[in-house]
Amino acid sequence: MQIEPQAFDRVLSSMCTEPHPAARDAAERFLATNPGDPGTYPNVAALEDDAIALLSEIAGLDDPAGYITSGGTEANIQAVRIARERADSRTPNVVMPESGHFSFQKAADLLGVDLRIIPTDDRQRADLSAVRAAVDDDTALVIGVAGTTEYGRVDPIPDLAEIAHSVDAMCHVDAAWGGFVLPFTDYEWNFAHAAIDTMAIDPHKMGQAAVPAGGLLVRDSALLDELAVDTPYLESTSQATLTGTRSGAGVASAVAAMEELWPGGYRRQYARSKNNAEWLADALEKRGYEVADPTLPLVAADVPRSTFDALRAEGWRISRTATGELRVVCMPHVTREMLASFIGDLDRLEVRASVPITSDD
Ligand SMILES: Cc1ncc(COP(=O)(O)O)c(C=O)c1O
Repeated sequence: MQIEPQAFDRVLSSMCTEPHPAARDAAERFLATNPGDPGTYPNVAALEDDAIALLSEIAGLDDPAGYITSGGTEANIQAVRIARERADSRTPNVVMPESGHFSFQKAADLLGVDLRIIPTDDRQRADLSAVRAAVDDDTALVIGVAGTTEYGRVDPIPDLAEIAHSVDAMCHVDAAWGGFVLPFTDYEWNFAHAAIDTMAIDPHKMGQAAVPAGGLLVRDSALLDELAVDTPYLESTSQATLTGTRSGAGVASAVAAMEELWPGGYRRQYARSKNNAEWLADALEKRGYEVADPTLPLVAADVPRSTFDALRAEGWRISRTATGELRVVCMPHVTREMLASFIGDLDRLEVRASVPITSDD
């Protein structure tokens, strides 16, 4: 095999990052284990209990329950599946702000539920009056996002939970990206703050675990029964996960990262990432770009398409929001030096673009 994985020194668009060294080491040691078969691989199964206990502490959940998923997509699909099974409707619907991740489109497709997408307000958070207007007796689930993929916004989670319960629906919080930074903010986003039922929270994003390590948490372990199927040929009796064989590497690296970093290491990382995001937003604003004020460590700015393309041609791994803004995620591998070098390239390219083309050219 000749191809090496790319370095992280120009990656500004990813919600994944370099795993913490302890997480990398744990992933390697548990590479050949399968928590999907706990009767055969009891050690990694015990580690998964530790992972869920740690994740629950981070998410304010008193009675730990859930499992380590392949990522936010699986956690979101499973949350919709639980809600569909619980709903007293033959035509269930799910209400989600337009800022929700596209994994819910997959969930709706797979599970045959009607996905009702409501607008966001002028701060890019779920518009509560639109949510109220969208729910009805067939609503199985109301989704809130705690750390949106495009702007890092946090929906008004307690209000969303209240609306959900007013129509006997469940409430799911997608904190796949935000879950490891929100504990250090004043936002109300978790099980202790609001009457939410399920949550996606991913160690392989801000948690600095190796891929694949997502998390599904449920307020009541009985909710997992909605997902469980019998497993005749295994020594365990049932399985609630979507995948069968799963990566023990993800489970072990999640535990190693959280044991190493929760809470002090994550708090320090949040401060670094937040300062970097504010520095970048400021640098872009000073250059005349319109910047969406960063609330979590994610910056979106109105940079022209031609500049964006030129930066990509320089090797910068950047992406755009649905409306075309440059989007930079200040993950743990993103340093101030990287951002300064990025701004240096931006200045150079803008100067080149502003030099008028003369007849001699
Ligand atoms: C808020 C949110 N939810 C879910 C996901 C999907 O996670 P994954 O790619 O790990 O399946 C993402 C991915 O970036 C995300 O930002």
